[in-house]
Formats: sequence, C-alpha cells, structure tokens
Amino acid sequence: MLRRRGRGVKDAEFGFSARKAAVDFSKYLLKGFTCCSEASMDSLDLVSPYLFKHRRRNFLVKDKMRPADLDALHHFETRPTDIFLVTYPKSGTAWMQQILVQIMDAAHLGWAEDATNRTHVPWLEERSVDNPSRERPDPRIFGSHLPPDMLPRGVKANRIKVVYVWRNPKDILVSLYHFSHVWVLLETPQSFEGFFQQFLDGDVYMGSWFDHIQDYHKAQDQLNIHFVQYESMLKDLRGEVVKLCAFLEKDLTDEAVDRVVEASTFKSMKTNPKANYKDLVETGRYKGETMRKGVAGDWKNLFTVAQNEHFDKVLKEKMSNLALTCVWEIKE
Ligand code: A3P
Repeated sequence: MLRRRGRGVKDAEFGFSARKAAVDFSKYLLKGFTCCSEASMDSLDLVSPYLFKHRRRNFLVKDKMRPADLDALHHFETRPTDIFLVTYPKSGTAWMQQILVQIMDAAHLGWAEDATNRTHVPWLEERSVDNPSRERPDPRIFGSHLPPDMLPRGVKANRIKVVYVWRNPKDILVSLYHFSHVWVLLETPQSFEGFFQQFLDGDVYMGSWFDHIQDYHKAQDQLNIHFVQYESMLKDLRGEVVKLCAFLEKDLTDEAVDRVVEASTFKSMKTNPKANYKDLVETGRYKGETMRKGVAGDWKNLFTVAQNEHFDKVLKEKMSNLALTCVWEIKE
C-alpha cells in the first residue's frame, strides 16, 4: 500500500497557552446507553463495550472500579509524606515508577522490599479503596491517571507532592495504539486510521489527552506539582533526576544519583523483572511487552502527512493558550 508517511515531517514546536478545550458532550450522550447485563454493574454510560464515561473520562468496563468506587477515592485518606505519580496513559508511567522507587530506596534504607514496582507504587484507581496493598510504610507512592478533580481531596488540601509526566501526544497515540493490542482490558483497534480519530475525539482509555494536560496546567497553582517531560528525560535523565530529588526533598549523593539513572535506562529496565511488567505477560494479562521502543518520534512511522497536519491543527486549536513550551524532537 502506498501511503505518504510522516517521516521527515517536522513536528510542531510551539509555545501555547490554554484556551478551554470544548468538549462535545452531546456526542457522548447520544452514544451512551445503559449497561445492565451484570447484576453487580452500575448503570454505565458506555463509550464502547470496553469503556464507560464518568466525569468526562473513560474507564475500563472490565476493571473492577465503578463510578461509586472512583468517587470514593476522593475521600481516600492521604498522609503528608505521600507522593502521587500522575500521567495520561503511555506517557512514561513505568519509567517514572522506576525512578521514584530507586530514589526512595536510596533515601530511605530498606524502603524497596523485594517486590515489583507495581507493589511499591500501587495504582490508586485500580482496586477498592480499602485494598491492603496501600498500607505501605511511609513515605508511600501512588500511581494514578485521574484528573485533578478526582484525586483524593487531601492531595490539594495538604499540598501533597504530585509528579506529573507528560509526553508528545503523537507518540502517546502510537504507544497507546500498540498497547491496545497488548492489554486484554482494551479493545483491539480495527485500524490505525480509526484509532487516530478516536484519540483526537477523546474516545480512548482515560478520555482526551488535551483535557488531561489542560486540567493539570489549570490546577497547578492549587497543587504541589512537578512537571516532567518524557522527552527531557530522554535528553538528560540525570538532570531530570536531580530536579526531581530537589522537588521530593531527597538529598542523594552523586553516586546514588548515578545509580538511580543507571537503573532507569530503557536497557536496564527492559531486563529488570521488577520494572518491566513481564509478569503480566506471564499471567496472560498482557499479550506482549510494554517496554516497546522507548524513543521520541515513533509517530513518524505511522502517521501520514495528512494525519500529521490534522493533528498539528487540532493541537494548536486546543492548546493555543497554554503557557508551555514543548520540544518534542530529540537532536542526537
Ligand atoms: P513506547 O510504546 O513508545 O515504547 P507507560 O508506562 O505510561 O504506559 O508508558 C509506556 C511507554 O514508556 C512505552 O513507550 C515504553 O517503552 C516507554 N518507557 C518505559 N520505560 C522507559 C525508559 N526507561 N526509557 C524510555 N522509555 C520508556
């Protein structure tokens, strides 16, 4: 098949500031219908057989969390020393998990027991609020994809530290497309073209990327938040680890920082069973690896020129007044 690929097309580099992204709710209301096939299920506003909408975001039908459980998380009791790692899916969550675990282990002797990063950084919205895996010694770290208004209220009220990782949405789209073939809880896309449009429409897991990043930027004055760009970590991992340690108030020696960096490279993580999520492949929850390429610019292998132009137009429209400079290209 002859297609004009986006390879060589320059990615948009822009300073933009947030104009409120308009969300077309009517579309969802038309599409939404009540699901009542299982007695235990709440009435769900289904986006597809795999996703339901709650508070503008899309959650997994096959997961155990229901709207009431998600709302209950708002009352989850935080502690002053908690740290929240927040991302939109495929932005580098597992990478930051590994970095945080390594920093904590260096700063607090014996903090990281012999367990996977999923145990060290339990997922906030994955299971019920009273899950014992949350009873970890302080300081605790939680992972979450939730928007700011759905986080535990203590995060804002008590200025709990939040680390937010974000990434070029074009690479997120491609990563999520591949991941949708891997994670059994997600619908396998029929085509890249269809998935591309779903992503732009926010009809994917966790909803619109544009909304997610907008919401966190709007909330930044009310939160104690540290933004880290995936591409900046690719460019200068050590520099980003040092900035992160300063934010977390963890005073690590140069040697300890070096060890954190070494343990957090793509190469190290790929062969580290505590960090690479391969156990989920072994238990059948993933049909393949999630440590896929770990690069910037893989979108050029899938986007057509027309798709790239369309994406840039939408990006500009939706993000034009967000005071944020994005540098997506990594120059060797
Ligand atoms: P790709 O699919 O583009 O390779 P998340 O953890 O939020 O699901 O994000 C997954 C993405 O982060 C995947 O991107 C994965 O390869 C990448 N990733 C994980 N660890 C990384 C690392 N140490 N360095 C660079 N990228 C990493």
